[in-house]
Amino acid sequence: MEWQKEKHIFLIGFMGSGKSTVGALLAERLKLPFIDSDKEIEKQQGKTINEIFAQSGEVAFRELEMEFLNRLKSQEPSVIAVGGGLPSIPRAIELMHESGLVIYLNTSLLTLIQRLKNEKQDRPLLRELSDTEFHPFLEALLSERVHFYKQAKLIMPNERNSPNELVL
Ligand code: S3P
Repeated sequence: MEWQKEKHIFLIGFMGSGKSTVGALLAERLKLPFIDSDKEIEKQQGKTINEIFAQSGEVAFRELEMEFLNRLKSQEPSVIAVGGGLPSIPRAIELMHESGLVIYLNTSLLTLIQRLKNEKQDRPLLRELSDTEFHPFLEALLSERVHFYKQAKLIMPNERNSPNELVL
């Protein structure tokens, strides 16, 4: 295993894969700070993710995600949950490999659909989808991104309802 104490641990995966929940538990267990990329960007910009997408667009949001990644170089070792789209930005995976251990929380499409159907409102890519559009959209986006996620060093299945079981 290549992870050393002075490096970060990155949790990557699709929206709804449990990165924030598992990441907070893992950070507590390892006694490391926990950072959530979406929360950091919201704090830094003084806007919600929905507002950033609506006012500046997705491309601008992806630039903010890359700036967030670059800022981590000077950050103390931390557990970091990154937004579901960040690993698909060119160079993002390489940057994460350079500064830490990258773990993919792998969750099946069916579980993602179950988890996300009641959480559409906070996610600009999902909030305007109708019930009939929802499943095909998630399926297409997941299949587009899985290739990036699989470049992680470790792949951990996360179908569970209790993230505690994964971190124990
Ligand atoms: C996105 C995932 C979200 C957030 C934004 C875009 C994506 O983060 O960054 O809504 O493109 O998959 P979560 O994966 O934490 O939901």
